Amino acid sequence: MKRLVLPLWLILCTPSLLASTVTTPATAHIPLETALRDPAIDVEHYDLDLTSDPATQLLDGVATLSVSLKQDASELTLALHALPVTVVLVDGQLVPFSQSPDRLNIQLPEVLPAGAAFQVVIHYGGIPQQVLEPGDSVVSGVADGVGWKTIRRSSYVLNEPDGAMSWFPCNDVPSDKATYTFHVTVPDTLRAVANGQLTSTVSGPGTRTFTYDMDSPMATYLATVHIDRYTQVTLPLRAGLEAMVSIPTMLGANFQKANWQQLPAMLKFMEQQVGPYPFGTFGLIYTQGQDDYALETQALITYPGKALGGGAGGYLHEISHQWFGNSVTPANWQDIWLSEGFATYFEDLWVTRDAASLKQRVLTRLNKAQASRMPAPYVTLRHDLFAPRVYQRGALVLHALRATVGDAAFQRFLRGYYQRFAYKNVSTPDFIRAAAELTGKPSVTLMLQRWIYDAVMPPFPKS
Ligand code: ARG
Ligand code: ZN
Repeated sequence: MKRLVLPLWLILCTPSLLASTVTTPATAHIPLETALRDPAIDVEHYDLDLTSDPATQLLDGVATLSVSLKQDASELTLALHALPVTVVLVDGQLVPFSQSPDRLNIQLPEVLPAGAAFQVVIHYGGIPQQVLEPGDSVVSGVADGVGWKTIRRSSYVLNEPDGAMSWFPCNDVPSDKATYTFHVTVPDTLRAVANGQLTSTVSGPGTRTFTYDMDSPMATYLATVHIDRYTQVTLPLRAGLEAMVSIPTMLGANFQKANWQQLPAMLKFMEQQVGPYPFGTFGLIYTQGQDDYALETQALITYPGKALGGGAGGYLHEISHQWFGNSVTPANWQDIWLSEGFATYFEDLWVTRDAASLKQRVLTRLNKAQASRMPAPYVTLRHDLFAPRVYQRGALVLHALRATVGDAAFQRFLRGYYQRFAYKNVSTPDFIRAAAELTGKPSVTLMLQRWIYDAVMPPFPKS
């Protein structure tokens, strides 16, 4: 058993050491911060060598980051939450570092110029602590925050928005996308699943190491690792692609089967609407957790171990995020409506399937939004990231655009917008510019700006 020496700030931030129920102060006024990012660096690849046993809750990690500099720098700052670091090397050379809450500061051996590329190796480990957001509770030591979670001898990850730093040091901003390799060593009675292609399984004394490659750029909030015993079912989706569905054996092999059996039809629907599925693998995994939401983790969608409202529509929602959210990723958290608004729009299309019922559904959505004076989908406070305005009014932006330009021009926009930003990031001004160009109607600019930024909702265009 490893001995842990905990610094004082870590002990103070550790929920499991606190008494029964604590709620972080619910403040609606925290701006979406950018402090978890180092503007001087671009991480190109994360190689994460993780050893974990849910029974002890310990996570040992060696993270190798391939970094290039966007400006001259003598140090770099990564996000890392509550896990002590023991050693840092830059291109093989030991370097000084320091830790403060949620920060790992690393001194470079010398001032390096913009364009310099190097590898940073970070050895760290301990018991991961979830990242709490304003209003989250800690009930009897179990937090409902984000990040690495351990429950009933299993572990899983839900990062969005800033939980990645609870299990690996990272440049935690949606615009710094990178490729990943995960090597996850677990007791040999368990299996590890992570984003991407399983490339090897190696047995050691009482352990197994699973290696996964995610070779498409991925934002930190979409990275995930799961450790449990699973029933795994492969489901053909179409020529050249199959889904791997992983269900914790504790949940029974038929858990939510009626929903995941619809994956082939859902994939076909999205490919017809937008274009080919962006990634080389397709996975869906359940957890034993009781979280109230699913997450579109890249090429490995995560669902909690309880039925969510929304049924099949909720499954189509997460699948559509693979195109809008994961391949085309919001540049900043303020732009999150570009992810959730699109997913809600496709959900509308999937659950209605004919023009008349779609019209009715949009009308109902519109009336509700008007009745509640729903504010703009573009958000500036962290508290609003997953608010109805992001999803509902976000979808209405797209329905309003479609009603203005007509079905054919809208379809042209949708496919062109996807192609223009696939595997990259997109900001709200990028979206507005693309809409004006691809529909051939520059006059939509003003209407979109009002729908996206104005607190007061504009009238819905007559179609
Ligand atoms: N992105 C998820 C979705 O598909 C929602 C995540 C909600 N996250 C949270 N921390 N509550 O809608
Ligand atoms: Zn969503």
